[in-house]
Amino acid sequence: MKISLVGVVGAGTMGHGIAQVLIRNGYSVVLHDVSEELVRHGAQRISLGLSREVDKGRLSAKEKEQAEGRLKTTTNLQDLASANVVIEAVTEKFEVKAEVFHSLDSICRPGAIFASNTSSISITRLAGVTKRPAQFAGLHFFNPVPVMKLVEVVPGLETAEETVAVAEQIATSVGKTPIRVRDFPGFVSNRLLMPMINEAVYAVMEGVATPESVDGVMKLGMNHPMGPLELADLIGLDVCLDIMKVLYEGFRDSKYRPCPLLERMVEAGRLGRKTGRGFYNYAKA
Ligand code: 3HC
Repeated sequence: MKISLVGVVGAGTMGHGIAQVLIRNGYSVVLHDVSEELVRHGAQRISLGLSREVDKGRLSAKEKEQAEGRLKTTTNLQDLASANVVIEAVTEKFEVKAEVFHSLDSICRPGAIFASNTSSISITRLAGVTKRPAQFAGLHFFNPVPVMKLVEVVPGLETAEETVAVAEQIATSVGKTPIRVRDFPGFVSNRLLMPMINEAVYAVMEGVATPESVDGVMKLGMNHPMGPLELADLIGLDVCLDIMKVLYEGFRDSKYRPCPLLERMVEAGRLGRKTGRGFYNYAKA
């Protein structure tokens, strides 16, 4: 399938990263978010990310300029009308995603493919909001998007094989490795990762060890590049909690119950790097 324009909905951590790797690899992108401030911030982060590549000599200044020329930003979903593929990367809440897809379904042409970057929500359920479940798939990127090699490709119950092929084609063309997994809560990545993070929070709550010690154990003992709590701060504690809730509700199994300390931290607005404080302090001195 020839993809002339990709719409990316959500200019946050994942959305801006997805838009960045797309324009970096020759795609034209319309990046949407709900306010001018959010799209401006997303575009700034993309520019910084591309500058990082220029500094490393992997991209010339001219290539950066050309890539940025392929990016348009908007706060109006109607501007995605001519996209052949739309990737949604809004907040990890079913209702919010459902509203986006419901709107897109009437805006975009019938042949356009929809993909969700959801970390854990059922693709079949999201696809059911639209009249195009055959052209709907999960396309799950990892944070930081420019660095992480994996894209989980998740067909829903009704997803057509051609749609999966397009999803895999997109992942491969931006230098990622697609791995196909079935549509179960948390897919594979978050079904394994989030219980580990949740258990790390329990270890802190129960006073087994400090965050530094929990992370130290996993980095030095298991060779993880980041400890689970540093990683939780990177992902966002609200996102981690939302995913634990999807696992808990999806499997109805108490082994996925969110740790009360994780819930309290989210209630306190300590969401990790993005708010300057999570298990660690990121406030600039
Ligand atoms: N954007 C672009 N590039 C970045 C980056 C960012 N935000 N952060 C780091 N990098 C690049 C650096 O430029 C460097 O590139 P180079 O090796 O080509 O020069 C490389 O990544 C390594 O970076 P650093 O040397 O600065 O730092 P580290 O070696 O500590 O690596 C890390 C940083 C890549 C983030 C590493 O710690 C890591 O891999 N952490 C684990 C990340 C992870 O598990 N992500 C998955 C989260 S789960 C998820 O996203 C799913 C969702 O559904 C929740």
